[in-house]
Amino acid sequence: MELDSSFDIPPSSIPYYRVAEFASNLRVIIEKDYAAMSRRAAGIIAKEIRSKPNAVLGLATGSTPLGVYQELIRMHETENLDFSGIRTFNLDEYYRLRPDHPESYHSFMSKNLFEKINVKPENVSIPDGMATDIGLFCENYEKRIKDAGGIDIQLLGIGRDGHIGFNEPGSSLGSRTRLKTLTEETIRDNARFFDNEGEVPHFAVTMGVGTILGAKKLLMLASGSNKARAVRDAIEGPVSAQVTASVLQLHPNVFVVLDEEAASMLSRSAYYVYVERMAEKFEAEAGT
Ligand code: PGA
Repeated sequence: MELDSSFDIPPSSIPYYRVAEFASNLRVIIEKDYAAMSRRAAGIIAKEIRSKPNAVLGLATGSTPLGVYQELIRMHETENLDFSGIRTFNLDEYYRLRPDHPESYHSFMSKNLFEKINVKPENVSIPDGMATDIGLFCENYEKRIKDAGGIDIQLLGIGRDGHIGFNEPGSSLGSRTRLKTLTEETIRDNARFFDNEGEVPHFAVTMGVGTILGAKKLLMLASGSNKARAVRDAIEGPVSAQVTASVLQLHPNVFVVLDEEAASMLSRSAYYVYVERMAEKFEAEAGT
């Protein structure tokens, strides 16, 4: 993406104390394509793991984070990225889909990440869509997150309707882990993973918007032009329960990593690219 010439980096440096402005912010990072987006996001997670070997990671499923997981596996295999002290909490799971069903999020996480890294099985938590008492399960899930010290960094995708987790439009912005009814759009979008649309569960257990906002850092990813509208509404639109990803605007420490197609409807992308270049420059100079 070309920068407008008015966004050239000025010759005089901004004093270091302003680095804090970049460190605590909503950073919109625009990468060329899916592979670059995935590498960048994996780098952010790896930095977290290296600086805190017992970090608590919030994880997500779907097509978008697959490249990030592949990159984390590569770093584990070739760069000694160590998950032995890491604890994880997944965002969501389908209701009443057995964990061994090939499309359950339990299966997804095992196949695409957990089997290939050295995370300890007892340190992994995924909502239990089979729990007899879902209300009680959800309360305990919240408690487990709290007892773990909270989530250090929460990975998020975004639905075409602007959802994070399965917090569909209209979800309370203060919601906690609970059972949610999926929208028709989400059911249709997820039908690609199942033999037919009739097999897609209509309910899911998901962390709430409030649960997600409780994480210390958020890392939202989006790739492809079919996400461009949701990304624009989330980043540049009003904060609204109709686009639950818009709550990112209320959180003090957010990375949004996009590919160029997902960023294509943002009206201020040249500015985001400029801010990012400045942040990288200051971080490099400050050695952070
Ligand atoms: P996707 O799903 O990564 O498969 O596009 C994102 C989401 O629905 O949160």
